[in-house]
Amino acid sequence: MGALAVVGTQWGDEGKGKIVDLLARDADMVVRYQGGSNAGHTVVKGETTFVFHLVPSGILYRGTTCVIGNGVVVDPAALIEELDGLRAKGVRTEGNLFVSQAAHVIMPYHKAIEKASETQKGGRRIGTTGRGIGPAYVDKMARIGIRMGDLLDPPYFRQKLEDNVAETNALLQALYHAPGFHAEKIFQEYLRYAERLRSMIVDTGLLVDKAITKGKRVLLEGAQGTHLDVDHGTYPYVTSSSASAGGACTGVGIGPTVIDAVLGVAKAYTTRVGSGPFPTELSNEVGAMLQKQGNEFGATTGRARRCGWYDAVLVRCAVRVNGLTSLAITKLDVLDHLDEIRTCTGYKFKGRRLDEIPQEMAILSACNPVYETWPGWKRSTTGITAYRALPVEARRYLARLEELAECPIDLVSTGSKREQTIVLRNPLLQSRRRSGARPVA
Ligand code: GDP
Ligand code: IMO
Ligand code: MG
Repeated sequence: MGALAVVGTQWGDEGKGKIVDLLARDADMVVRYQGGSNAGHTVVKGETTFVFHLVPSGILYRGTTCVIGNGVVVDPAALIEELDGLRAKGVRTEGNLFVSQAAHVIMPYHKAIEKASETQKGGRRIGTTGRGIGPAYVDKMARIGIRMGDLLDPPYFRQKLEDNVAETNALLQALYHAPGFHAEKIFQEYLRYAERLRSMIVDTGLLVDKAITKGKRVLLEGAQGTHLDVDHGTYPYVTSSSASAGGACTGVGIGPTVIDAVLGVAKAYTTRVGSGPFPTELSNEVGAMLQKQGNEFGATTGRARRCGWYDAVLVRCAVRVNGLTSLAITKLDVLDHLDEIRTCTGYKFKGRRLDEIPQEMAILSACNPVYETWPGWKRSTTGITAYRALPVEARRYLARLEELAECPIDLVSTGSKREQTIVLRNPLLQSRRRSGARPVA
């Protein structure tokens, strides 16, 4: 088989980490392809909780090779901190983790530019994670970025860094009246990081290609979600990378024909962190309940996540944009205590029904969701592993989500732990091209 891509279908935090960890048991390789330490992927193994920012969520299996692909922007200090944290928890990564020499490096000045820009935007700020992601991708596209491989060539690295610091200092001073940086200080600091990471920095494109050619099972782990994608998301309230399945090709160095299947992860409701339109957002006691019950606080920044009903328009769009072959529905258990549950099937704008996400942010912000109401099941589903053991109302709800998405559900998550999952079909073991809806009620 080729590769299976796992992508978020909403605004991130869908539970990709949990699903990738579960599937990684049968994978030979897990590859991150975009984003950086803005991601926070939670994996609960036994009594231990891990939050991965840059390290792929397959690292807990010693036999699974983990790769940080060329499309990722790497903050070496954050990566080293993560490796130290893993070591403290008894997880070995030596010989098991590789970083692309072409992945771009996040510099201290990227974070400074982001902070200054967000402050200046005031009420129109994006609400970024403050990890320097946007400015690092700006440098990449402007062809002045510094790549992981450059850190291993000190004279070349010094020259590029001096040029960039001179330009950045002028920008920080002129635009934001902010203090500048000392190139030499950054140079020495990053040389130390390079020494620590040296043995991991390789041409990962070749590594992944070799694995695929040998028939190994490869998982491509998306970060963020489809509606945070720089092209297909709610622009400008998005991240600066291609979080959708298309990004997996450029961010790893493989062709689209190599990707056999794409699994979309969707929460049984919707959340969003940061600014931007969110039609089904609930600013009432139900929203507060979802936040509390779902423990909806950012894994990276600790910020409270905005919560609302499941939005089928978002997920249907994600099916199209990513060519999803199946879905994993997560956090079903969070809905256990509700009397009734709503799903948004379309929007209303000035009396007109919309079945697709309007591209104009002003219209999306002013849309009213059109809801269907479903009876709650008022019983615990936590930890259920067999589909037939679910209350009939929960099965009906899932069947409806599948119907609305026009995409089959392969997995249903009923808790944060690995084993708290209903596996209807393992998408890594049986690849399948898009095959339409399949009733599960
Ligand atoms: P990711 O960024 O997509 O990997 O998702 P996050 O890790 O940021 O957020 C998902 C949160 O939900 C984490 O705290 C997970 O431990 C938790 N989680 C995942 N699946 C389930 C589930 O089915 N039920 C419950 N209650 N929690 C879950
Ligand atoms: P995972 O992989 C949820 C959001 C930020 C902000 C916008 C831009 O854990 O699902 P950025 O720092 O990327 O420039 O911020 O994107 N954001 C996320 N929201 N989950 C994430 O990652 C996110 N990564 C970025 O909150 O609104
Ligand atoms: Mg997250």
